[in-house]
Amino acid sequence: MLPHKLIEQRLRQALKAVLPEADPSAVLLRPCPDPKFGDYQTNALMSLAKARKMNPRQLAAAVVGKLDVAGWCGPVEIAGAGFLNFRLETSALARTLQAAAQGEHLFFDKTGQPRAVVVDFSSPNAAKPMHVGHVRSTILGDCLARVLRLLGHKVITDNHLGDWGTQFGMLLAGWKTALDPARLQSDPLGEMERIYKLISARCDPAKPEFDPATLDRARAELVKLQAGDAANLSIWRDIIRLSQSQFDSIYGRLGVKFDYTLGESFYNPRLKAIVDELLQRGIATESRGAKAILSDGSLPPKEDPFLVHKEGEWLPNPFIVQKTDGAFNYATTDLATLAWRIETWHADEVIYVTDGRQQLHFQQLFAGFRRWHPEARTKLAHVWFGSILGEDGKPFKTRSGQTIRLSELLDEAEERAFKVVSEKSPELPETQRRQIARVVGIGAVKYADLLPNRQSDYVFSWDKLLALNGNTAPYLQYAYARIRSIFRKGGLDAAQPLEPNAQLELIAPEEIALAKRLLGFGPVLEAVAQEYRPNFLCNYLFELAGHFTAFYENCPVLKAQPAQRAARLVLCELTARVLKQGLEVLGLETLEQM
Ligand code: ARG
Repeated sequence: MLPHKLIEQRLRQALKAVLPEADPSAVLLRPCPDPKFGDYQTNALMSLAKARKMNPRQLAAAVVGKLDVAGWCGPVEIAGAGFLNFRLETSALARTLQAAAQGEHLFFDKTGQPRAVVVDFSSPNAAKPMHVGHVRSTILGDCLARVLRLLGHKVITDNHLGDWGTQFGMLLAGWKTALDPARLQSDPLGEMERIYKLISARCDPAKPEFDPATLDRARAELVKLQAGDAANLSIWRDIIRLSQSQFDSIYGRLGVKFDYTLGESFYNPRLKAIVDELLQRGIATESRGAKAILSDGSLPPKEDPFLVHKEGEWLPNPFIVQKTDGAFNYATTDLATLAWRIETWHADEVIYVTDGRQQLHFQQLFAGFRRWHPEARTKLAHVWFGSILGEDGKPFKTRSGQTIRLSELLDEAEERAFKVVSEKSPELPETQRRQIARVVGIGAVKYADLLPNRQSDYVFSWDKLLALNGNTAPYLQYAYARIRSIFRKGGLDAAQPLEPNAQLELIAPEEIALAKRLLGFGPVLEAVAQEYRPNFLCNYLFELAGHFTAFYENCPVLKAQPAQRAARLVLCELTARVLKQGLEVLGLETLEQM
C-alpha cells in the first residue's frame, strides 16, 4: 500500500476510536506544501473539532494517541491550531520504491470507485479549418481523458462536431453557385471556408457586398436541408465527410482518438419533443416570440444564470431553446446531448472543454438541465480556458492577420524542432533527426498549451516552447532520454536494475529528496483529475527532473559501490518510468535516444 493511503487509513481508524460517529471520509491527507513541516499533513481534525465545539489541539492529541503508524512515520507532530504533520521514515520510503521497482505500482492507485466520465472536447465546426483555439480544447481534453483513464475511471470521449445549423444554408448556396471544384480537390477546407465567407458577406446587411437575393437563397437552402431534401442532404454529407477527413489527419498527428463523434446533427430527431416537454412542464416559456428558459427565482440573483445585471437592475437573460423562426439551436442540442449521455452511457460526470467565452452557455445549460431532470446526480463541469496570444499580446494570428491553421502550426513546429535537433545532434542521420523533430515539435506545442493555468491567456512564443532549458517539452523529453542513456552506457537492462531481494538503501539527501518526489506522482494525478488542471502535472514533472539533476550531479551512479549503485539505478529507473508515464498522459511521446 502507498504510504499516504496507508497513513490516511490509519488516521481514519484512529478517528473512529476517538469519535465513533464522525465521517471518516472527511479525513484527507495532503502533501505538505512546505517540506520543512513534513511530507504529509491533514487539517481535517480542526473542522471536525469545530463542528463539535471541541478544542482542536485536544482532539488532535487524542487521535494521535490512538494512531499507529510505526514503521512508516517518525513522531507525528501537532502543529498550529491542530494540523497533523507526518514525516516518512527513510525505510518506508525505500520499501515503497522497492515495490515500485518490482512493478507493483508506479506511486498511484487505481480508484476503488470507478466513475463513468464523458469528456466532450475538440468539437470543431464542419467546413471550417481547425484553428489554434480548437487546439487547446483538443489538447486539454485529451490529457484529462488520459489521466482519468489511468486512474481507473471509465472514460468516454465524444467529439461534439458542429455539423448542423444555419451556416449550412450559406454553405449550400455557395456550393451550388460559387464552388471551384479544383480548389475543393486540393484544399477542401480552404475552399469551403472561401464559399462560406463569400456568401455570409452577401447575407450580412452591414456589409457592402450585401445582396438580399443571396440571403433568401441561403434561407431557402437551409429550409430544404431541414426538410430532408435529397440533393441538399447529399451535399451536406459531402461537406461533413471532407471536413472529417481533414480533422482526422490533425488528430492523427496529435495522437488524439475519440470513442464517439456523434456531432450535433445526431440529436436533431429529439429536439422538438424536448422543447414540447419543457413548455408543457413550464420550464420553458414564450419570450418575445422565442421559447426560452427563464429564471424561476430559486437562486439569489447573483448566482442565477438566467438574470443579468444592467444599469442597476436585474433583467432576464433567457436561455433560448427555440428561435422566433422555429429553429432549434446550440442550446437545444446541448440539452438533448446531455440527456442522451446520461441515459445511454450512465454518465456520473460530464466534462466540457471549451474557451471561456462559453461560460454563460454552460451555466445556463447546467441550471436548465437540473430543472428538467432534478433527479440526475451527474456531476457537470465546464473546463474553460483562456486565449492564445501572439508575442504582441494580441490574439494569435498570421502576419497578414489571418487565423492560424492548426495544420500549418504543426508543420512549423516540426520544422523549427528539426533545426534545434540538428544543432544539438548533427551526427544523427536525417531520418532520425526528423523523427525526433516530430516528437519534440508536436510535444512542444501541446506542452505550451498544458503548462499555463488554463484560465489565463498565454503568449505563444516559438523560442520559449522549444527551449532546451526551462519548463518545456524538449527539456523533459531530453531528461527522459538522458536517463535511458545511463543504462545504455552501463550495458544494463532497464527493466530489472535491482535484484529482487536486494535491500534498497537511501542515504544521500539528494537520494531521499528524489525518492520523496517520486511518491508525489499519485497525489498530483489525483489533483489533476479533481481540478481538471494538467498544469499541476507539468510542474510536478519539471520539479522531478530538477531533483533528478541534483541527484545525478551529486551521486555517481555507474561508478558507485555495488549496493549503492543498485539503489541509485533504481532511482534512475523509477524517475524514467514516472517521466514517461507522466508525459504520456499529457499526450507527449518520448524517445529512448535523442
Ligand atoms: N462546436 C463548438 C465550438 O466550436 C464547441 C462545442 C462544445 N461542446 C458542446 N457540447 N457544446 O465553439
